[in-house]
Amino acid sequence: MKNRSLVTIAEHSKEKILYMIELAKQFEENPNKRLLEGKVVATLFFEPSTRTRLSFETAANRLGARVIGFTDPKVTSSSKGETLKDTIKMVSNYADIIVMRHYLEGAARYASEVTNIPIVNAGDGANQHPSQTMLDLYSIHKTQGTLENLNIYLVGDLKYGRTVHSLLMAMRHFNPTFHFIAPQELRMPDEYKIYCKNHQIKYEEHTDFNEDIIANADILYMTRVQRERFTDLDEYERVKNVYILRKDMLRKAKQTMRILHPLPRVNEIAYDVDESPMAYYFQQAQNGLYAREAILCDVLGITLDDVKAFK
Ligand code: CP
Repeated sequence: MKNRSLVTIAEHSKEKILYMIELAKQFEENPNKRLLEGKVVATLFFEPSTRTRLSFETAANRLGARVIGFTDPKVTSSSKGETLKDTIKMVSNYADIIVMRHYLEGAARYASEVTNIPIVNAGDGANQHPSQTMLDLYSIHKTQGTLENLNIYLVGDLKYGRTVHSLLMAMRHFNPTFHFIAPQELRMPDEYKIYCKNHQIKYEEHTDFNEDIIANADILYMTRVQRERFTDLDEYERVKNVYILRKDMLRKAKQTMRILHPLPRVNEIAYDVDESPMAYYFQQAQNGLYAREAILCDVLGITLDDVKAFK
């Protein structure tokens, strides 16, 4: 069988992204379809997580699968020196799918090359977070009615933020205009700006963050400054509070604009913003369940027709 791993969203065509949105929509209409009865999903989390792990495990449970795994590598034999390759080969003896988060960039790709069962990348270092991107795309499509021709403002840690890296790659099919708002220390890496140029993706860079800058946004995508990615904690202290979205900054925003955040939030969105109808980050996380049910089915070769036909 062809290995159907989800390692990077860059491998998805425009048609595939729109198909996955349609699949997720089916699960929003009915999340409880026991299409994975008899299957085992392994969730291997070498880094902390709340939403990604719990929504994948909820997705597996709602689809009728059983879940095994770990949330702390210290309680596994990797703490005794077992290699990632051996861990993946072992777990492949027990499970039908591996959902893995790892601190090393490229770990998911490597894992997919040493096993025949599908690997779902639940985040690899500062590299990619494709399942987050599927739920982001689903959320953008649901709130804007389209993915085409949108003004998308990415704010905060654009250097280490794997969610923004995945999102910009996925959006290449839909003629977006990106605005990168970041302090010098956390600006979008050159490799992603080159990616934009190679794929005719329009972008502007800003260091200011105020109501005038964001007035034309369709999507305002806030991100956390990730303490765990800094080797120099003095640098983290300098930039950690650099951008905070307050409610009064939304005065000039389009009424249809929606604020997304992959979460967790620390302090980059003030709590009074939660009351705004533009705040969409908690619904966005809920959409993660439907997007991840779609992903688990897709990597096992279960099609949209199968999902529609299942009662
Ligand atoms: N968005 C996201 O990846 O959240 P968790 O780290 O809680 O999984």
